[in-house]
Amino acid sequence: MTRLRTAILISGRGSNMESLIAAARAPDFPAEIALVLSNRPDAPGLDKAKAAGIAVAAVDHKIYAGREEFERSLQAMLDIHRIDFICLAGFMRLFTPWFINQWRGRMLNIHPALLPSYRGLHTHERALADGVKIHGCTVHFVVPEMDEGPIVAQAAVRVLDGDTPQTLGARVLAQEHVIYPLALRLVASGAVRVEGNRVLGALGRSDAALVAPTPDR
Ligand code: GAR
Repeated sequence: MTRLRTAILISGRGSNMESLIAAARAPDFPAEIALVLSNRPDAPGLDKAKAAGIAVAAVDHKIYAGREEFERSLQAMLDIHRIDFICLAGFMRLFTPWFINQWRGRMLNIHPALLPSYRGLHTHERALADGVKIHGCTVHFVVPEMDEGPIVAQAAVRVLDGDTPQTLGARVLAQEHVIYPLALRLVASGAVRVEGNRVLGALGRSDAALVAPTPDR
């Protein structure tokens, strides 16, 4: 089996990165984590990746005159490591269309909301303010429009009466750690195909629904 050489791009603590690294340890996982790259040299996730024996690099966006120059350095680093595929995992920089088009169909992102609801930042605060009963997370292909692109996987959680952005965010994060490895496995193994804005081909049970609040019976 040839495994897709994958780079994980991070800006912070890297818990999604850790879930991908752990999943890719399985011998039958169709992707190998060949590089963890950060735009912040002090990102705590870099130390965790290093401790896991993964190659790490930092390309500090602050030292570049503009986004194009920054992205050209990122691209050079990805080329050096012969990267085929990118997973954005809490990478908090927007890309130019140039970079995204280079990686079209070969770059996933995880977002802490059920897209297309709550694009952008502060998703848990906004979900609570709106009073939604179900919230969640999404893994999607990256396209030039922010937080858009064909959806590979989603997980939903119930919103509870006593939730704060922190407690809700923690339950969503636990599901992020489930669906990101699942989505990478589906895409890297070729189990799914993209048709327009839809990702098709992953078989699953069709009878499970999440209802909130949970009915008594
Ligand atoms: C995750 O919740 C991820 O969904 C979010 O940042 C967090 C990173 O945590 N991403 C975005 O908001 C992207 N717009 P992590 O560093 O522990 O994986």
